[in-house]
Amino acid sequence: MENPGAKLPIGVFDSGIGGISVLAEIIKTLPYEEFVYFADILHSPYGTKQENVVRSLSIKATEFLSLLGIKSLVVACNTATSVAIQEIRKMYPFPVVGMEPAVKPAVELGSTGKILVMATPLTLKSKKFNELVYHYKHLAEIVPLPCAGLVEIIERDHSQGQEITEYLSRLFSSVNKEGISSVVLGCTHYVLIKKEIVNMVGSKIVIIDGNCGTARHLRKALQNECLLNDETAKEPHIPLRAKVRFYISGDEREVMITKCKQLLQNEGIICG
Ligand code: DGL
Repeated sequence: MENPGAKLPIGVFDSGIGGISVLAEIIKTLPYEEFVYFADILHSPYGTKQENVVRSLSIKATEFLSLLGIKSLVVACNTATSVAIQEIRKMYPFPVVGMEPAVKPAVELGSTGKILVMATPLTLKSKKFNELVYHYKHLAEIVPLPCAGLVEIIERDHSQGQEITEYLSRLFSSVNKEGISSVVLGCTHYVLIKKEIVNMVGSKIVIIDGNCGTARHLRKALQNECLLNDETAKEPHIPLRAKVRFYISGDEREVMITKCKQLLQNEGIICG
């Protein structure tokens, strides 16, 4: 029997536009679902704030989406996941899927080189991340690379911009690229500048993000709870047409919504 909750939208949140890179992957995996996306731009960036502040902002974001009526939540932010996912899961009855730097897939590549993890200072300081490193440290050398300030630049200019290139040049000038086999993008914003990161590190180094894994994980979580919108028999339209409602904290509402829609369109997704 169909679960009536299956018709509800999926809630997705991030501090800004980074979570759109995750949403795009989810729409490609689950083209018949509806979404509500919350960008907490008023409090962006999360990654340089105190742990308790980000935990409380993440719980507030979840509360906001939950009041709209959602069947599941995706915390499309590594920083928020690293400090708040356990509390959120305890507080809400729906499936909650989070993000973590994709260290596991990087280790599973089986290369002998170092794994560089680009993420926000808070993600890299968190207990959750340090447990992840501890778990894999006998299999690979994992090198954290905090990128304070990068989220702000991406929010200002996510398309190829000089500021991004200059930031990355400065960042990588202190990194010994010798012996690095992969770079993990441990912040959903960085996926939006993957091209610039490839230009910086060269095409021999594998760049890994957790977006596909999160989309697959969400599909499984919905399936387990009979919450999947069962329209898989139909062929999805190309370009994909997605039903997304956007909610933005702060004043820049219209500008932000246009940016979010543009980013989805770059991925072949039209918001209807
Ligand atoms: N997209 C968030 C993440 O994945 C960015 C955090 C921030 O606002 O600093 O970590």
